[in-house]
Amino acid sequence: MAAFDFAPLLPAGSPAPAARWTGLAKFSFVGGNNDADAVPVEGLTAAVNAVLKREGRSLATYGLAHGPQGYRPLRDFLSEKLARDGGMSAGPDDIMIVSGSLQALDLVNQALLARGDTVIVEQDSYQGALTRLSRLGVNVVGIPLDKDGMRMDALAAALSDLEARGIRPKYIYTIPTVQNPTGSIMPEAHRAELLRLADAYGVPIFEDDCYADLTWDGKRPRAIHAMSGNGNVIHIGSFSKSIAPALRVGFIVAPWQIMAQMLALKTDAGSGALEQMVLAEYCVPHFSTHVPALTRGLRAKLDTLVEALNAQFGTSAEFEAPQGGIFLWVKLPDNVDTLKLYQAALKDGVSINPGPEWSTDKAHSKSRLRLCFASPTHQEIRDGVAVLADVCRREFGVPLRSANVAKTGTG
Ligand SMILES: Cc1ncc(COP(=O)(O)O)c(C=O)c1O
Repeated sequence: MAAFDFAPLLPAGSPAPAARWTGLAKFSFVGGNNDADAVPVEGLTAAVNAVLKREGRSLATYGLAHGPQGYRPLRDFLSEKLARDGGMSAGPDDIMIVSGSLQALDLVNQALLARGDTVIVEQDSYQGALTRLSRLGVNVVGIPLDKDGMRMDALAAALSDLEARGIRPKYIYTIPTVQNPTGSIMPEAHRAELLRLADAYGVPIFEDDCYADLTWDGKRPRAIHAMSGNGNVIHIGSFSKSIAPALRVGFIVAPWQIMAQMLALKTDAGSGALEQMVLAEYCVPHFSTHVPALTRGLRAKLDTLVEALNAQFGTSAEFEAPQGGIFLWVKLPDNVDTLKLYQAALKDGVSINPGPEWSTDKAHSKSRLRLCFASPTHQEIRDGVAVLADVCRREFGVPLRSANVAKTGTG
C-alpha cells in the first residue's frame, strides 16, 4: 500500500523539511556542545536524589505549584547570581524559566515581531537567532563587529538611516558578553553608548547573555539590563553553557508588561520541572566552584585548537583569541568557500559551521568558519584540524604548508 502523503496538507510557509539524523561526525566542531568531562555528574546525581526525596511529590502538580514562571528556588538562585555577577536587580518575579534560551528567543519574537518588521542584530551572530528571523519574514539589519563587539558608530548610522526612512526597529539583539561567534566582550562604555542610542531612538535591547559565565578571568562587565534606567532591556540566559545543554533550561528577565505577554504565549504548561529542581539543588552550593573548573578546561582546549591551527594552517588561518566561551571564529584565505569546505570535510569525518550560516553578510563570511572547541577531546582537536587542513588544501589549494613542512610542489 502506498504510504499516506502528508505533503498536500502542509500549510504555505512551512519550513524546509529536516534531514534525518545520521549521527555526529568523527571530528565534530559544530554546535554549542559542551565538554562531556566537565558535566558535574556526581553533583547532579546527588542533587537528583536529594531533591526527589524531599520534594518529589510536588511533581504531581503542573509547574510544581510554583506558578508559570518556574520553580521558585531556581528563580531565587538566579536572582542572586544575576545581582552578584551582572549587577542586575531582578527579583524572582522578574524571571521566567524556559525550555532553553531558544524558547526565550521564540517568546520574545512572538511577543514583538510581525512579518515585515525590522530588527537590528550583530553582523556575525547566532544562527538560531538568524534563522528564526528569516522564517518570520523580518528585515534584519546587521551591524559590523570589532574586538569590542557591535560597532557603535555603525549602529548610530543604521538607526539614523532607518529613522530617515520612517522605520522604528523592534529591537537591537546583541550577545555582548562572549559574542557568538566572535568571542568578544563589549566593554561597559560601549554598553552605555548602546543604551544611549537605544533610548534616543526608542528601541528596546534584547540582551542574550548565555555565555556570560564562561569568561577566562571569571569577570564580566555589568549586564546591559543592569545599566538601563528605564526597563528597556529584555535579558535572556541559559544553563546550557555553564552546566549542560541537553537539560534545556534557560530563563528570561523582563519587565512585567512584556513578561505578561510572553506568559500568555508560553502554552506548554511549564518547562521540565525535574531539570529545574535538580539545577537549583546543584547550583546553590556548587555553581561558583564548578564554573572556574569548567572554564579552565575550555581554555586549555582553546590553546590546543590554536596550536593545531597554527601548525596545520600557518598564516592561512586568522583569528582573534576569544575572551571566553566555546568557539573560535576563523578567517581562511578569500578563495575558500566554507559552505563547500563544510561539505567536503564532512565526507572525511570533520564537521564545521560554515560562516555564511552565522552572518547577515554572506560575502564577509564566505571564507569564515566557526569551530566549537568544547566538545572534541584534545586529541580529536589535533587530528580533526589536520584532516580539515588536508581537505582544504585538496579543495582550495590552501594552506600551502602544513605542520610547518612545505608540501611537495610548493617550493
Ligand atoms: C547566542 C545563543 N543564544 C541562545 C542559544 C540557545 O541555547 P539554549 O537553548 O541551549 O539555552 C545559543 C546556543 O548555542 C546561543 O549561542
